[in-house]
Amino acid sequence: MTPLDRRGFLRTGTVAAGLAVTPALAPTRAEARAARRYRRTLPAGWTYPVAEELLPFGHGVMSGDPLADRVILWTRLTIPDRRGWDASVVRDPQGFRRVTVRWVVARDPGLRRVVRRGRVTTSAARDWTVKVDADRLPSATTLYYAFEALGWRSPVGRTRTAPAPGDDVGSLTIAHFACTSWWHDVFNSFARVAERDDLDLITHAGDHVYDNSGGHPASRVWADQWSWDTDVDNADVRTPAELRRRYALYYADPQLMAAHHAAPWAIMADQHDYDPSTTDGVTTLSTEQAGRVFFEWTPVRPPLPDGSGRFPASPGP
Ligand SMILES: [Fe+2]
Repeated sequence: MTPLDRRGFLRTGTVAAGLAVTPALAPTRAEARAARRYRRTLPAGWTYPVAEELLPFGHGVMSGDPLADRVILWTRLTIPDRRGWDASVVRDPQGFRRVTVRWVVARDPGLRRVVRRGRVTTSAARDWTVKVDADRLPSATTLYYAFEALGWRSPVGRTRTAPAPGDDVGSLTIAHFACTSWWHDVFNSFARVAERDDLDLITHAGDHVYDNSGGHPASRVWADQWSWDTDVDNADVRTPAELRRRYALYYADPQLMAAHHAAPWAIMADQHDYDPSTTDGVTTLSTEQAGRVFFEWTPVRPPLPDGSGRFPASPGP
């Protein structure tokens, strides 16, 4: 995490111009103003799960659903506010209604050999999540990406595009997960995967973010003496805001975050992803609401709404 000094920006901008890609994305005057106004300090009594040292990118970065020419890049902004964390209630934390986020894809972790870059805006309407379908990328290539917003740069993530027909690729190396519960697991397997720099893909067969611990004895419930039914990060999920917060709990975990940073993910949905269960069997969250949060918080490319299962052509950055 580095503050964006002016020299750093000029350096990346110069390299980008040398490669004749899109114009250098120095902050606009409005973006510079927003950066000066942004306060990273968490207010007293703040409980929302976030990696404070990474603010405003307090849930790290992630990439997913790589194709031969594109990959989805993901991050989320956290704008602390004394009024609370719920984006459906606090729609303008610190007075921000929308924030522009710059993104960059490069061939090197120092982000000097820029391949693609662009801008996107986010707001409370999508829980301050950011999703970019970065296209026109070289196939079967390891790439690095980051976001910049409010005067700060995100951690740099590593990703990799899929091979195109004719590419000389003899094998693929894939790590696979399924049904990973924050309460029951200590996530060391995510940390081991994060240590590798040779993965083409991390697949997850669903329940990447479990809705709850089911009331079962669970290691982190014991460790933290959490109450199963009253703690907002463990109790039944009843609202979209609570489900979004459940994703935040997982994504703030340093071991899971490290795995998110290490390689592109391909996440499938299991029943907990779309139909959160409750201990009393009463469901207040619709499948549509849960699915919406799933697509907000994962780098998953949504299929076309026509039931064909086909993916849409990328609208580009
Ligand atoms: Fe499961």
